[in-house]
Amino acid sequence: MHRLPPLSRRDVLIAGGALGAAAAFLPRPSLAATPAADGVRRFALKPMPATVPLVGNGHPDTSVWGYNGSVPGPEIRALQGETIEIAVENGLEQATTVHWHGIRLPNAMDGVPHVTQDPIAPGGRFTYRFALPDAGTYWYHPHLGSSEQLGRGLSGALIVEEREPVRVDREMVWLLDDWRLGRDAQIVGGFGDMHDRTHDGRIGNTVTLNGRLTEQLPVRAGERLRLRLVNVANARLFALEFQGHQPQVVALDGHPVTPHAPKDGQIVLGPGMRADIILDMQGRPGEQFQVVDRFYRQMHYRFVDLAYSDEAPLRDSPLNASIRLPANTVPAPDLANAVIHRVHFGGGMMSQMASARMDGRTVGLREMFQHGLAWTVNGEAVSGHLHDPLFRLKQGQSCRMVLENDTAWFHPIHLHGHAFRVIARNGQPVADDAFLDTVLLAPRETAEIAFLADNPGMWMLHCHVLEHQEGGMMGLFEVG
Ligand code: C2O
Ligand code: CU
Repeated sequence: MHRLPPLSRRDVLIAGGALGAAAAFLPRPSLAATPAADGVRRFALKPMPATVPLVGNGHPDTSVWGYNGSVPGPEIRALQGETIEIAVENGLEQATTVHWHGIRLPNAMDGVPHVTQDPIAPGGRFTYRFALPDAGTYWYHPHLGSSEQLGRGLSGALIVEEREPVRVDREMVWLLDDWRLGRDAQIVGGFGDMHDRTHDGRIGNTVTLNGRLTEQLPVRAGERLRLRLVNVANARLFALEFQGHQPQVVALDGHPVTPHAPKDGQIVLGPGMRADIILDMQGRPGEQFQVVDRFYRQMHYRFVDLAYSDEAPLRDSPLNASIRLPANTVPAPDLANAVIHRVHFGGGMMSQMASARMDGRTVGLREMFQHGLAWTVNGEAVSGHLHDPLFRLKQGQSCRMVLENDTAWFHPIHLHGHAFRVIARNGQPVADDAFLDTVLLAPRETAEIAFLADNPGMWMLHCHVLEHQEGGMMGLFEVG
């Protein structure tokens, strides 16, 4: 199978020389739309082809697909408890839907094709409307042809502000993305490539921050920042280290956690995952610090530099104000009375798997591969969104789900419609207060999660490495 000559970030940066645009600092309104008289905030999104200066520094613009022609798509922002309405018009030449990743919303608004709605045909429209029960950092993206549609640029942030936010001097949203570009800075095709599907997904060769290759971010000594990190990449995992700084994690997947330093000083994000961090800028005027991505051994690189301006420090010692976010409204699962379901993930390169079920038949690996399938969930490889649910839960029931990664690969497993606690990893109890919508499973790792099934409907459970999902790593569970 082919691998592309890398258009490495370093090549590009050395060739370019000049500073990348500080995309994270483009002015943005604090609330993207004012509520109408009925209290609803209204937005319009049109996924469409566009060209954007992804690489910059004299490289050609890149043809992409973007919501309203921009990459990332427009930021949707509202206040906790509000209702938003998003009118979507499909400007692509293929069908699409929009999924609101992490929002605990009514099933009919979840954007899963054939399960919760019909695909939106080219030129077609669909209006989403839902309340926002939880504050936090969320995002939106297509749920159809996901590898290609996200891989060409379709995604955006959905930020739900707390009614009483913690005090910071500035807030930034960082959408981390990864692109597979040729030397002409154009997106290389080959979506659906079986090498990507059977290994670690479509890893690219160009990493962007808010849709731009960014070299430096200006900061000021003494200021306190809130960074909302979102991994919108198809397949790349990030482990960001903020050299010379002590980030505090205050929320994961949108939901507040007890503020803490990240393990080993690295903020690890698989596709779909988010982290909110508080960063006190304790360097001196004129200094420069690297943010390094250390996820892949031997492939560490500088993600961006934090460049201190020459301005006098905003204050001499860090702001003395609490960084603990107000709690959300996620109900706690009742562990003692929970039903237990096991979900086994198999397949991929280097697996022992000999056969699987596909469309109700038992087939060998070869036949699976011929259908573009590489992974199984409880022994089944599914090719479409709609199929029999893995299990059913009564509304109001608590569920413990044992997620067993019987493969040689990382999988960020995402649950729709609910937020869960991780209660054990490899049989060892986990004691933290996080509520997640995506849990990263390391190779051969088992995680036990628990949640209250309070949201009726047919919900997805899938790997957020989009090539794994399309290769069969998805399933449904029903609450009702
Ligand atoms: Cu972010 Cu089912 O997806
Ligand atoms: Cu996966």
